[in-house]
Amino acid sequence: MTDHEQGFDSDPDAVLDPEYDWHGYQFETRQVHAGEQEERNSGARITPIAMTAGYRFDSFADGRDRFSGKADGLIYSRQRNPSGTVAERRITSLEGGTETIVVASGQAAITTALFALAESGERIVSTASIYSGTRILFGRSFARFGVTVDYVWDESDDDEWDRVIRPNTKAIFTETIPNPKNDIVDIEHLARVAARHGIPLVVDNTIATPYLIRPIEYGAAIVVHSATKFLSGHGAGLSGAIVDGGNFDWAGSERSYPMLTEAQSPGVPSVLERHGRTAYARLAREAVVNDMGPALSPFNSFLLHQGIETLSLRMERHLSNSRAIAEWLSEHPRVESVDYSSLPGNPRYELAQRLYGAATGSVFAVTVRGGEDGARRFLDGLRVFSRMTNIGDVRSMALHPATTTHFSFSQELRDRLGISPGLIRLSIGIEGVDDLIADLDAALRRV
Ligand SMILES: Cc1ncc(COP(=O)(O)O)c(C=O)c1O
Repeated sequence: MTDHEQGFDSDPDAVLDPEYDWHGYQFETRQVHAGEQEERNSGARITPIAMTAGYRFDSFADGRDRFSGKADGLIYSRQRNPSGTVAERRITSLEGGTETIVVASGQAAITTALFALAESGERIVSTASIYSGTRILFGRSFARFGVTVDYVWDESDDDEWDRVIRPNTKAIFTETIPNPKNDIVDIEHLARVAARHGIPLVVDNTIATPYLIRPIEYGAAIVVHSATKFLSGHGAGLSGAIVDGGNFDWAGSERSYPMLTEAQSPGVPSVLERHGRTAYARLAREAVVNDMGPALSPFNSFLLHQGIETLSLRMERHLSNSRAIAEWLSEHPRVESVDYSSLPGNPRYELAQRLYGAATGSVFAVTVRGGEDGARRFLDGLRVFSRMTNIGDVRSMALHPATTTHFSFSQELRDRLGISPGLIRLSIGIEGVDDLIADLDAALRRV
């Protein structure tokens, strides 16, 4: 019997406890409540921000037992903090995972997720169309740590996957809705490729959010987020998240994941033996986040779990605004093209309908006439949209990737990725759509 049902059967004079286990409730209910913790001292309805670096041990023995894992209590906020725990449980509930770790940024989430899987001398395969910062992270810092990232350009081509995946490839990485081209991938297909090779699929679900798609349901093993974006929603602070799907067979893979499957100290069972379906999350938290230190501050954890409370409402508006704007732009005489998979005629339209009901988020690209000069006039003519780098804020934003996020890329790579001189990335906010269209229209008249 769920707690829900217990309510129906209870003694009519009894005072019922508030619900704290939100399993089985609707997405919209879980986004508001999941993970919240009872605050008995004052009855504060919102879980207070736990501004503390560490936690008092009850005794000598308690300190020892917490460190050895025999007792459950908290140790230090680099591993866990009660404010982070609210955000973690809420995201676990929405993504359908087994455990989440929140970290200081999306880049910290991607680094943590992949460093828990691959080490020096090993490889990761990624789809080619991904956020520029992730490509830079792979090409610079991952390379410096000896982890090589290979790219697949046509993710529908099984032969290309089979050529690129090598015996020491430890993960496949992709984005559900890639930034900035909105060239969505078929994650169901990628999960099949990953399963065939016995490799976990790691999916950056930042732009889609669990409101639109839950990659674990399609076979992804791990989900990461720049929670700075839609999850927090208001552009006020950075955060990131790593979700363990709890569904990958670490011991059964032909590839070795020794940090999970082998004992790391004499006499102590492996992480997998101790933690089962949350083993990957435990490894990421205890061996990567704890060592490297990208902990999320309690204040930003609060911004994150409070932001999530309105996720579905914001997403509905982001999506309806985006659809109207993409359609309007695609008819505009000063626009060359719109990269939004949900527009009829887009090569990924069928996939957009199948996976997203033709609502592929609110970050997409528009190419204006006149190349870089056209892009400059357009951007400088915007007054409601902000010229800035960020996405997933309630505010609308525009950016010229070729001269900003992608400026350090070679011309050849920019061409291959389709980052042309006239291309602008838009992140559509939740303002009134007529005001947004009027702003775009005024700016386009200058092109
Ligand atoms: C899809 C995607 N993943 C990851 C990141 C990195 O996130 P953060 O800026 O929070 O480090 C971004 C940032 O724009 C992004 O768009």
